[in-house]
Amino acid sequence: APDIDVTKVQAHLTELNAIAGRNGGTRRSTGQGYRDSVAYVKGKLQAAGYTVSEQACTSGCTSGAGPNLIAEWPKGDASKVYMFGSHLDSVAAGPGINDNGSGSATLLEVALKLAETNPTMAARVRFGWWTDEEQGLNGSDFYARSLTSAQRSAIKAYYNFDMVASRNGGYFINHITSAAAAPMKAYWDSLNLQPEENVEGAGRSDDYSFENYGIPTSGYAMGASARKTSAQAAKWGGTAGAAYDSCYHSSCDTTANINATGLDRSADGVAYTLWTQAVSTTVPAN
Ligand code: PHE
Ligand code: CA
Ligand code: ZN
Ligand code: ZN
Ligand code: ZN
Repeated sequence: APDIDVTKVQAHLTELNAIAGRNGGTRRSTGQGYRDSVAYVKGKLQAAGYTVSEQACTSGCTSGAGPNLIAEWPKGDASKVYMFGSHLDSVAAGPGINDNGSGSATLLEVALKLAETNPTMAARVRFGWWTDEEQGLNGSDFYARSLTSAQRSAIKAYYNFDMVASRNGGYFINHITSAAAAPMKAYWDSLNLQPEENVEGAGRSDDYSFENYGIPTSGYAMGASARKTSAQAAKWGGTAGAAYDSCYHSSCDTTANINATGLDRSADGVAYTLWTQAVSTTVPAN
């Protein structure tokens, strides 16, 4: 799998932070800051050759919420789909750069790297940037509900990324012992990070919308408002007794609120997982 250049992920975060700055300091789902975020991600994906669509959330979302953004890499067996998703909205109180510019920028850069590398695919890869997560996982719930049962059963796993660069964070994996989590865990194990189950995040982000339909789910997270234990500080560093992200849902969740080392390890692990699950290992014949 390729190495993701964390400086490119950080450049996307700088753009999302600037978008919030032009729109009252927020990228909340009902505002122009959200719509501009969708336009930024969509423009990069279209330029790279993706099939991109906006899906208006016509039930269950907050009135006036902007759309989900869905991008599919148009190669590989369409009956085997691996999905990678993150919410693109912030809370009203701040620009949402760790929550969840971090997941959104990571997936954008991995998607661009896939297009640039253009490997032979063994499966389909589809990306989702969700609206209105902060009001109750609403955009992803609408998407999962809108699929037919055949479309749902084609999704072999859904991977979620919500807060993957927390400054005092830890290395958490959703459903860490599951088959879907195996490549995510293998990558962080290879860095000797000793990942743990994402207890804090269970049922609290968009993977839950897919889990509700029996789709296998996993993902990375580095933690929100819960506090780091002394055992976790001993193995990961950082401050015991302090929140994983002290700017959670606050105006200080800016580009200054990013753990660049954590962001890099998350992005590289996403690429490893995508390549492991969906890129062909067969050498093409000449
Ligand atoms: N879903 C939460 C949010 O967007 C983030 C979160 C993730 C909270 C993991 C706790 C644990 O605010
Ligand atoms: Ca890297
Ligand atoms: Zn979040
Ligand atoms: Zn949040
Ligand atoms: Zn679960």
